[in-house]
Amino acid sequence: AMIGKGNHRHFMMKEIMEQPAVIGETLNSFFNPKTRTITLPDLPFDWRDIPKMTIVACGTSFYAGMVAKYWFETLAGLGVEVDIASEFRYRSMPLAPGGLALFISQSGETADTLAALRYARENGQHIASIVNVEESSMGRESDFVFHTKAGPEIGVASTKAFTCQLVTLACLAIDAGKQRGVLDHEREALLSAALSEVPARAAEILENDTNIRDLAAEIFEARDILYIGRGPGYPVAMEGALKLKELSYIHAEGYAAGELKHGPIALIDEAVPVIVVAPTDHYFEKTASNMQEVMARNAQVIFLSDAAGMKQLGEHALGSIELPTVDPFVAPILYSIPVQILAYHVAVLKGTDVDQPRNLAKSVTVE
Ligand code: G6P
Repeated sequence: AMIGKGNHRHFMMKEIMEQPAVIGETLNSFFNPKTRTITLPDLPFDWRDIPKMTIVACGTSFYAGMVAKYWFETLAGLGVEVDIASEFRYRSMPLAPGGLALFISQSGETADTLAALRYARENGQHIASIVNVEESSMGRESDFVFHTKAGPEIGVASTKAFTCQLVTLACLAIDAGKQRGVLDHEREALLSAALSEVPARAAEILENDTNIRDLAAEIFEARDILYIGRGPGYPVAMEGALKLKELSYIHAEGYAAGELKHGPIALIDEAVPVIVVAPTDHYFEKTASNMQEVMARNAQVIFLSDAAGMKQLGEHALGSIELPTVDPFVAPILYSIPVQILAYHVAVLKGTDVDQPRNLAKSVTVE
């Protein structure tokens, strides 16, 4: 069937706005409303036997994998290697026998990711994939496929597929943590509850997004923009920078906030906006001090945080985006939404082709 833009000017905004619904759909396939916990179908492997996990993907899907690394390591005590498919496939990486290789792909067809999957299979891994398209090469070649329920994504820059990948990965991490005896019942219930609230919190973000357009107007003439974060906020920073560069053609970089002092801080002056991804989690104080360092060098900071963060630092920033107060576990899912919207508005102000950025393709099925 033909897919329309509804009342939106661009598919991208339509897809951003669909996120509460499709995140809910994706979550429903794992959420047991009776027990109010995450329950996965029977998997062809046992989490307790997995010595090591390898996650491979490209582009935005790769950043979903990077967020998941933090989740699997801290919630399930499972060591994770995350790699870009085009690197992984040629590196002849030794893989622990019986390990789990997980491939993340909106399309299920990206040539490099598919080649990486075949390498992992030849090297004794269990093969699982997270794919959005119902029928795909990756799906067919996997021992197990998790289907995200984002629905068809038309905008070249991935938005709803990404947050649905994150939700799926969060469910997997809870399941792994439970099976591996790392998460007790109480913690599992807390994390499951936090996840079940994500659609409602995402809807709140989308209802209060008007100031993001004003912030876009403040930064759209910048030549370079830096995004910083720590922990799972670091891949969110990289995803924010990727969205901005692909849509608006402004040079942007996502950096681990703690790494600023080893180079990028040299770039900072009043002409460089810095977007700070800083939920009040276990990294907050550290990120806050990095934010103060860039402000001392006159950077124009846009601060993404919750009420507690705003209270502490909100008034020092050029602009701020206040997000709902949530369990830090789900923050990376929610903080991805304002960075999508910011990139969208910057692109609209620049007059670029939001749904079809130059030189990019929705899925890259040749090398
Ligand atoms: C292309 C798209 C990106 C996407 C990447 C990976 O570069 O433009 O939006 O993240 O491919 O695609 P996949 O379908 O494997 O997630």
